[in-house]
Amino acid sequence: MSENPATPETHVAQPEAPEADGMEAGAQAPAATATGPQPPTAQEAARLGATAASAAVPRRGEPMFPDGTGPAADPAGSHHERRIRSFQPRRSRVSPSQADALRRLWPKWGRDIDGLSRIDLDAFFEGRPVVLEIGFGMGEATAQMAAADPDTGILGCDVHTPGQGNLLGLAERNGLSNIRVANGDAIILLREMLAPASLAGLRVFFPDPWPKKRHHKRRLIQPEFVALASTRLAPGALVHCATDWEPYAEQMLEVLSAEPTLENLHPSYAPRPDFRPLTKFEGQGLDKGHVVHDLIFRRRG
Ligand SMILES: C[S@@+](CC[C@H](N)C(=O)[O-])C[C@H]1O[C@@H](n2cnc3c(N)ncnc32)[C@H](O)[C@@H]1O
Repeated sequence: MSENPATPETHVAQPEAPEADGMEAGAQAPAATATGPQPPTAQEAARLGATAASAAVPRRGEPMFPDGTGPAADPAGSHHERRIRSFQPRRSRVSPSQADALRRLWPKWGRDIDGLSRIDLDAFFEGRPVVLEIGFGMGEATAQMAAADPDTGILGCDVHTPGQGNLLGLAERNGLSNIRVANGDAIILLREMLAPASLAGLRVFFPDPWPKKRHHKRRLIQPEFVALASTRLAPGALVHCATDWEPYAEQMLEVLSAEPTLENLHPSYAPRPDFRPLTKFEGQGLDKGHVVHDLIFRRRG
């Protein structure tokens, strides 16, 4: 998990070799040269493979997805600048298959979190009740949960471009029509783009733990965030959080318990529910011997 202080968000998604589907914090895309954008070299074009190379390959320094063809690099831009963010902006390497999924599926199933308009969830999800998952990473667990419950819409929100492409690709390959992807900061999504009482649930699985004390203010689960999120939940909606970082689990329990509009369904932590698949970060935590805690709260009526 990254410990770096946030830097200005300047990522320009760049394609990379097909096998690189993993999340690599800190992976750097090639920077634009001093002489301006350059076309890829023959070697780079070869690395992209025939399909991706024949599609429009961006020149260095150009956005990978021009307006309307994929997720924006910084959708909220200057409209909603926040000083403290729960994620670390980073340059992201996008595989050809992820880029292909984004180009084809983003216009239909993706939304940039620009903070400028309300999302009509009913239209976007064809009438399904909608659960928001914040920070789906590469989206494997999201896709599994969506497959297990096709009548529920899953709005996955993340800033990680490769993961967005991965999740859209998983949705298509598995015939899942109940997944949509929001690109940007979940706080802006909740505050500006979702109507009060519009969500049937909220999931936050293994949010960045920001273990160092000076970074605790970056943790997503804070009193203000929980109060805001709760206003977007319909009565009876469930809030499900999980973490493998013990001090963060304690903070989650304290913060969620203190929110008057929520009630804990369990005396303390929840037993691990069968319906939550193992996530990538959970697996990494378990490998390190961490103990995983689930928390399940309900929005009061
Ligand atoms: C530690 S990863 C966990 C990913 C996945 N849930 C798992 O368990 O494998 C946390 C994810 O949350 C995303 N994230 C953090 N803060 C966010 C925010 N404010 N809005 C949207 N996504 C955020 C990060 O980009 C990252 O992909």
